[in-house]
Amino acid sequence: AVPVITIDGPSGVGKGTLSRKLAQHLGWHFLDSGALYRILALAAQRRGVADQDEAGLARLADALAIRFEEGSDASAEIFVDGERVTNAIRADEVGAFASRIAVLPQVRAALLERQRRFRQPPGLVADGRDMGTVVFPDATLKIFLTASVEERARRRQKQLREHGVSVNLHEISRDIEARDNRDRTRAVAPLKPAADAKVLDTSGQSVEKSFDELRSLVEA
Ligand code: CDP
Repeated sequence: AVPVITIDGPSGVGKGTLSRKLAQHLGWHFLDSGALYRILALAAQRRGVADQDEAGLARLADALAIRFEEGSDASAEIFVDGERVTNAIRADEVGAFASRIAVLPQVRAALLERQRRFRQPPGLVADGRDMGTVVFPDATLKIFLTASVEERARRRQKQLREHGVSVNLHEISRDIEARDNRDRTRAVAPLKPAADAKVLDTSGQSVEKSFDELRSLVEA
């Protein structure tokens, strides 16, 4: 089977950065599964499909033509029905909507096959919440990233600042905790390390330091 490395964890642990870097380092494909939830959220918002309309959302998920154009640096341009949505899906309201619809079993089921299709030679690095537990239970290596809420809030604030948005730390922490809570307590595919996952705490670490630790797990 084509090798897969899964990298799961809550938001703000540096998952996106580290997993992209790893994919680039290995020359493997990259799956940003959160982007799929965000894409569906954006499409639903635009078409007026409610965040509780489970069947409607699942139908929409099946109908969307999604294309990731992988760049040389493992970044990707994302197109939905031909329209570039790379930046639009990063909006905060889209993330919040994504987190709400991610609790719906039919939505998760509708996205399952789409995610598995990313498993192409020579290999895949898959970033998400349930990559190791549900989507690729037979993964070659499973990593679960953690970091303290304070640290994650600071990172998120920095990221938002870079996008010219200023939000206070308290508000960000509250939002992170609410989202964590929803991700951890949902009935389907709750956020948790797979039984066979290696847990890596990135609190207080630079990206370089975390990446070194990640690499030694991969090369072990
Ligand atoms: O908001 P953040 O950048 O941390 O997350 P994301 O990776 O862009 O994913 C957006 C939302 O989709 C998350 O808040 C999760 O609730 C959900 N998600 C999920 O349920 N399962 C995944 N494999 C990936 C994302």
